[in-house]
Amino acid sequence: MSRSPLIVRTVPTLRRAIDSLRSRKATVALVPTMGALHDGHLSLVRLAKRRADKVVVSIFVNPTQFAPSEDFGAYPRTWKEDVAKLTAEKTDLIWHPDGKAMYPDGFATRVGLEGPAIVGLEDRFRPHFFGGVATVVAKLFTQVRPAIAIFGEKDFQQLRVVTRMAADLDLGVKVIGSKTVRERDGLAMSSRNVYLSAEERAAAPALYRAMRESAVRLKQGSDMSAAMAAGTEIITVAGFALDYFELRNAATLQPVTSTRDGPLRILVAAKLGATRLIDNMAV
Ligand code: PAF
Repeated sequence: MSRSPLIVRTVPTLRRAIDSLRSRKATVALVPTMGALHDGHLSLVRLAKRRADKVVVSIFVNPTQFAPSEDFGAYPRTWKEDVAKLTAEKTDLIWHPDGKAMYPDGFATRVGLEGPAIVGLEDRFRPHFFGGVATVVAKLFTQVRPAIAIFGEKDFQQLRVVTRMAADLDLGVKVIGSKTVRERDGLAMSSRNVYLSAEERAAAPALYRAMRESAVRLKQGSDMSAAMAAGTEIITVAGFALDYFELRNAATLQPVTSTRDGPLRILVAAKLGATRLIDNMAV
């Protein structure tokens, strides 16, 4: 049987635990999560284990990245199952602060962002989101002091924002993106998939089909707007309310005017009923 990871809930205890993990020059990898762990998260932990000597997973449902109208209260919390999964993956330490440990009374700082955080994708629909993510991730990086941190490519704009921030603020962390893990029918794994009704779950893989259809057409050299329109049609016919379905430069996330402006990435966000799903695909 695997040994349970060390579970730490306060910053001073974390400091001591990280000092001890880092002794004898061991490299530390951090996998930041909000819990409700699925196979996508576990693939991040496995990548972390391959790249570093010690693996820290943070579990913190970060209130500052949710708007008041969003699902902070309802966000799935599955602590016992998460610990069991991380034990099976031989995680070394779980950093599980409560709201007060992360944001003590009087907390008044927020990371300001430009570049990939203001390109009119997630930021257009969730203007509060990246400020909250960047602030908590900056704190996680300074608390854990990892050599590397692993983020899923599923939140592609988040990956770009965090990578930029780590470089700009000289945080000394190498940010590594990990491939999206999908269900057999193509739906990207997400903690929010549990919100989908049976009917919505059946419709949800249309996002993947749409991206694949547009990507294939683009690779075959078809007109850019026609290729993207074909994907848009698949999404709307499946019953989604579309926020965006866009072709962007994968490095800058800026809009492209020609398929020669690559590397190209399709990014999508759409709602099925009350559930908002995001996904992306390289072209
Ligand atoms: O991707 C997530 O789960 C969250 O945005 C993160 C990076 C853990 C920050 O709260």
